Amino acid sequence: MRQKLVIGNWKMNGNADLVVAHREQLADTAFTAEVAICPPFVYLHAAQHHLADTNVALGAQDASDHAEGAYTGQISAQMLHEQGCKYVIIGHSERRAMCAETSEDVAEKFVQVQAKGLIPVLCVGETLFQREQGQTQDVVVGQLKAVVARCGIKALAKAVLAYEPVWAIGTGKAASTEQAQEVHQSLRQWLHKQDAEVAEGLQILYGGSVKPDNAAALFSQKDIDGGLIGGAALQPEAFAAIVQAAS
Ligand code: PGA
Repeated sequence: MRQKLVIGNWKMNGNADLVVAHREQLADTAFTAEVAICPPFVYLHAAQHHLADTNVALGAQDASDHAEGAYTGQISAQMLHEQGCKYVIIGHSERRAMCAETSEDVAEKFVQVQAKGLIPVLCVGETLFQREQGQTQDVVVGQLKAVVARCGIKALAKAVLAYEPVWAIGTGKAASTEQAQEVHQSLRQWLHKQDAEVAEGLQILYGGSVKPDNAAALFSQKDIDGGLIGGAALQPEAFAAIVQAAS
């Protein structure tokens, strides 16, 4: 049985006080799921301090595709490791779209993150146009394939996959449980053809307008192993309710 995992992606929101609010809320919440929060880089140090004696892990929202050097403004996987991160989100659709990150760039980030013993949370997802064109499967498998081509299938044994349909992110219009399960299943089936053990062990999270009222139904699906939460991760009570839905 795969353990459920819930990761909060704050994007460019929040502050150090929000870490404390989550800490307090989750201390009052009984949960068995694995939980992580991904605040902006500048709050990682405070978060490491505040979460030290909890079972809430820390993650980052991105990492450089280089180990070190003259890359102004970038943050290396080594630095994230030193700040106590366990997870690093890579290939989020906002970065693919706004920072022109290609699947090959994302694969290089995957390499850097794993090289420092961190767990990449690889995001894949189709736009509404691609879904309407019937390209969902090709798009998400294509994004996954770029990483497998660069790193090998076994690398996914130490990674998390997140299916995030672009049209569902921040829109309040989550994928239906059937739509989400269908894509998760097809991703797992593709992986199965490469390596059955990796396919069975891999946690595949759903992201895109997960809220307390739809979380339990999504997480009850056979191939949905938890969630990557944006907007609701900024509200400690809502986030804790989602964590409970996964527990
Ligand atoms: P959302 O964001 O929950 O606000 O839709 C999800 C994400 O982008 O990870």
